[in-house]
Amino acid sequence: MKIIQLATAALILWVNVCLAQAPEPKSTASFKPGERWYDNKGELINAHGGGLLFDKGMYYWFGEKRGQSASQGISVYSSTDLHNWKAEGMALEKSADPQSEIAVGGLMERPKVIYNPKTKKYVMWFHLELPRQGYKAARAGVAVSDKVTGPYTYLNSFRPNGHMSRDMTLYVDDDGSAYHIYSARENYDLRITKLTDDYLSATTQDTLMFSNHREAPAVFKKDKQYYLITSGCTGWAPNQASLHVATSLFGPWKLIGDPMKGPMADKTFDGQSTYIQPVQGKKDAFIFMADRWNPKDLKDSRYLWLPIKFENAQPVIEWMDEWDSTVWAK
Ligand code: GAL
Repeated sequence: MKIIQLATAALILWVNVCLAQAPEPKSTASFKPGERWYDNKGELINAHGGGLLFDKGMYYWFGEKRGQSASQGISVYSSTDLHNWKAEGMALEKSADPQSEIAVGGLMERPKVIYNPKTKKYVMWFHLELPRQGYKAARAGVAVSDKVTGPYTYLNSFRPNGHMSRDMTLYVDDDGSAYHIYSARENYDLRITKLTDDYLSATTQDTLMFSNHREAPAVFKKDKQYYLITSGCTGWAPNQASLHVATSLFGPWKLIGDPMKGPMADKTFDGQSTYIQPVQGKKDAFIFMADRWNPKDLKDSRYLWLPIKFENAQPVIEWMDEWDSTVWAK
């Protein structure tokens, strides 16, 4: 009898040891906006003000790597399902050369990456602020790579056609033309410039979209209409989003109103737009991406990703604590 009891106890102990050693399942099957999101290594995803690129069956997420406040370069993650993200390291590091425009002490914000099929290069644009100058420089920085995850080579920075350039996004249209949408004139103007064929610089085709003191532009296209979501200009603090629509990227842009719905809708759910990603293989499926900034600890700023719905043919973004891809089937 004693032997059986001992053997049972040993078996229970062994099972417990095995269970304790079993790795925690890290995969997730849903989006939980505003919660802490971890990568495949169990570390907080550090990719703020970011954007996605779908390339050869994989999504890549580029964003600002932040310390408590420092700008630490551009990070990149990869995923097949948009929930589970593998850390791919740094896409663009800060330069160790103190003379470099991307040396420590400056800012690299809101990176976006697009692929140029003609040159076969991945091209990154971001908002660059020069070391020790706060937000004065207001320039667009450009970097390039043969490989999607980088490392990207920093090329140069400029003010497109002489205009200040702070918050920004990139957009590639169906015909392969690419555009840079950016906050200019101390953020009072939102402008759009067409990129050169190699996507490395701005052409002189550069137009004022509107002068509403807006930033954080995020754009998508549905049924030949372009939709643009922007935020107001209140630094890290949240404010009310607005939605504009146009049949041409060069306008005229018509203000529709605030597309957010639910608690804290008038403060973009305590967040700020950064990008809109079409979901591959699904019709009219778009993910609105925003940052819930934490200015006391920027690296712990949270991600608010929400599906865009269409009500009476108008985009609506409703708060959800948790959601998954079954929203698209409805
Ligand atoms: C916001 C901008 C952010 C960051 C922040 C700094 O207006 O959208 O990207 O620059 O200001 O206060």
